[in-house]
Amino acid sequence: MAKVAPSLLSADFSRLGDEVRSVAAAGADLIHFDVMDGNFVPNITFGPMVLAAIRGATTLPFEAHLMIEDPVFFWKKFVDAGADAVGIHIENDIDHKGLICEIAAAGVLPYLVINPPTPIERLEPLLEFVPQVLVMTVNPGFGGQAFIPETLGKIERLAQLRRGRGLSFLIEVDGGINEKTAPAVRRAGADILVAGSYIFESDNYAARIESIR
Ligand code: DX5
Ligand code: ZN
Repeated sequence: MAKVAPSLLSADFSRLGDEVRSVAAAGADLIHFDVMDGNFVPNITFGPMVLAAIRGATTLPFEAHLMIEDPVFFWKKFVDAGADAVGIHIENDIDHKGLICEIAAAGVLPYLVINPPTPIERLEPLLEFVPQVLVMTVNPGFGGQAFIPETLGKIERLAQLRRGRGLSFLIEVDGGINEKTAPAVRRAGADILVAGSYIFESDNYAARIESIR
């Protein structure tokens, strides 16, 4: 069964702790926390202090999806704030392998994230070092965008590489996931589905989570 990670980007920010409690009660498997700095993407969200403030609302794992220019400087602050997983973009010009090792050494799950225009080949040398890969199925920055169908081929390719190399990293997808796109990404090989607007626009979170799972 697929795991579902509600993205707080589409939650009601004036009641963030309650929103976390609500999706947890509605059957979420983990909480997706989108960090944007206004440079890596043209939007700004929240930082480690906000994560720390809502961390106690659930015992579910939190993953911090870092869409920022300087993940090397900031990652640890999210771990100290209570993140259980930290996602870094392959598009950041950094030593990915070094950072993956550092994050893992802190006892937290490191994962790599890839944007729609970036070829999957960029990840190839790093696949054996990560327990999870997130394939962006929209261009990052905003919730509520339409799923980009061309990303299905990338998910398939990644699943193929996983099989071919006998690896076991999980494949996560993020962007435009709803009851129509979920079956296609599942067929392509996705294990974890991030969904923001589809869940939070409804007044029945449990039904939405169940329908994509
Ligand atoms: C986009 C974020 C996503 C976003 C997805 O940059 O990374 O996590 O919340 O939103 P939906 O599910 O509405 O496309
Ligand atoms: Zn995200």
